Amino acid sequence: GGGGEEEGGGEAGGGEVQLINEGTLTVCSDIPYRPFEYTEDGETVGFDVDLVNAIAEDMGVETEFIRTSFEGIQSGVALDSDQCDLAASGMTINEERESVMDFSEPYLDDNLALLVTPDSGIQGVGDVAGKRIGVQQATTGEAQAQENGAEVVQYEDSALMIQGLNTGDVEGVIGNISVMGPAITDNPDLRLVEEIETGEQLGLAVKTGNTALLEQVDRSLATMKEDGSLAELEAKWLGT
Ligand code: ARG
Repeated sequence: GGGGEEEGGGEAGGGEVQLINEGTLTVCSDIPYRPFEYTEDGETVGFDVDLVNAIAEDMGVETEFIRTSFEGIQSGVALDSDQCDLAASGMTINEERESVMDFSEPYLDDNLALLVTPDSGIQGVGDVAGKRIGVQQATTGEAQAQENGAEVVQYEDSALMIQGLNTGDVEGVIGNISVMGPAITDNPDLRLVEEIETGEQLGLAVKTGNTALLEQVDRSLATMKEDGSLAELEAKWLGT
């Protein structure tokens, strides 16, 4: 084993994978974010959970999910402060985040969507300027709402965001299309009026310089892409 060829540099880079807790892959996740990570019958389940469990199985270790704010995850703070080895949070790979953490190869394509109440009159992102639009804090949905001049209302997690829409606190919400499907199933009155083609790609992330773990993660992802098990997870959790 241990095929790392990198020279020094990263503090945890190259060589053997070192985990914060030996024998356990500790994972930061912002829960609930259905269908990626959420609690059902007291258990943490979802797309990311199955994905990370498969990677851990390849490594011969257990997993432990640590519920972490998305702000803490996407800012790199959770990884930098060694709260976890891996971030798995339906997180979009972008330049800003790449400067504070290292991303795996992408595991899923995603877009944004605008979901509104039936009587909002909002027909697309072109109509959100000056409107109260809910977003999950520090997400790509928030950036999109800002860009379109909405009066942005931040929620701590995606369940609270949908609740805000249901109670009329906001007239619409912007979030990933991958999570809007389940939200509509639960709340059939809501209307998905526009899919915003952002071409986002989701990735897992490690602390900057943790090359040994990143290579392990990418190896597992490559295998799962090849043998069809990643596609199976997509079908299972996203119905695609
Ligand atoms: N994909 C979006 C982003 O990266 C939202 C992710 C939110 N994830 C979560 N577990 N709450 O900004």
